Amino acid sequence: MRIGCRSRAVVKTADVSKLTCNLDGEIMNNSAVELEHVTRTYKRDAFEVKALDDVSLKIPDHAFVAIMGPSGSGKTTLLNLIAGIDHATSGKVAVGNEQITAMTERELAAWRARHIGLVFQFYNLIPVLNAFENVELPLLLTNLSKAERKAHVEAALKAVGLADRMDHYPRQLSGGQEQRVAIARAIVTDPTIVVADEPTGDLDAKSAEEILNLLTELNRRFHKTIVMVTHDPRSERFVDTVYRLDKGVFVDAAPGGAASKAATALQPQA
Ligand SMILES: Nc1ncnc2c1ncn2[C@@H]1O[C@H](COP(=O)(O)OP(=O)(O)OP(=O)(O)O)[C@@H](O)[C@H]1O
Ligand SMILES: [Mg+2]
Repeated sequence: MRIGCRSRAVVKTADVSKLTCNLDGEIMNNSAVELEHVTRTYKRDAFEVKALDDVSLKIPDHAFVAIMGPSGSGKTTLLNLIAGIDHATSGKVAVGNEQITAMTERELAAWRARHIGLVFQFYNLIPVLNAFENVELPLLLTNLSKAERKAHVEAALKAVGLADRMDHYPRQLSGGQEQRVAIARAIVTDPTIVVADEPTGDLDAKSAEEILNLLTELNRRFHKTIVMVTHDPRSERFVDTVYRLDKGVFVDAAPGGAASKAATALQPQA
């Protein structure tokens, strides 16, 4: 049987953590993220909590994936390791083919600024800065000129559909719009990976759907790899793959709704 994305059987039977298809029907098997036997232990007094226990998984390049699991299962811990915010107690973390476990703090900070866009549940916008200024913040750490920064900020706010709200302050925006500004801030540096921790957790159903559609568009149009932690089962239909954690253990990876939509769209017409 030809190995290709036109066949759903392949996606069903193969290790989906190694095989994902894009909308052009190409198999994408380069890993954006690779964890090998990763354990993260937190020590508090005499107690030890194994937030992640021997987790090995791969997330393909250009994929939009969800990490799901009960509260306390290690989702945020996993995301923080991928984003280089936290260190594994043991094991290896590679992102974009770079071993980030081996980096010093200084190297990691520079790497993060270049490769990671962060989106949080509560947006984390600075209230005294308007939308333009919030999105410009990460660019102040770069060598870009004022004119270049302006061009990048305007492009990012346009990409999230808020070109007309640049001078609005967070308090003048709805929750969904605040999250759009936060997403613009995450993509303004053109990162390799966007990591989002429950980006729809504080939104009503309609705004949540708009944010998921926006993330899908960023993934499809700008080929951003997106790793999203979510509790919301409605998110499953937007993503290529759902990775499940339980009590710090990686349980499985299964195709999400976007994977089946892409495969259906690619079926040859009878
Ligand atoms: N800094 C810390 N110190 C001690 N224990 C921690 C720390 N951070 C997380 N933990 C513990 O690690 C485990 C996993 O936490 P984590 O925040 O990754 O879970 P989660 O899946 O994101 O949960 P939620 O859905 O509630 O956000 C939990 O038992 C938590 O108490
Ligand atoms: Mg969490």
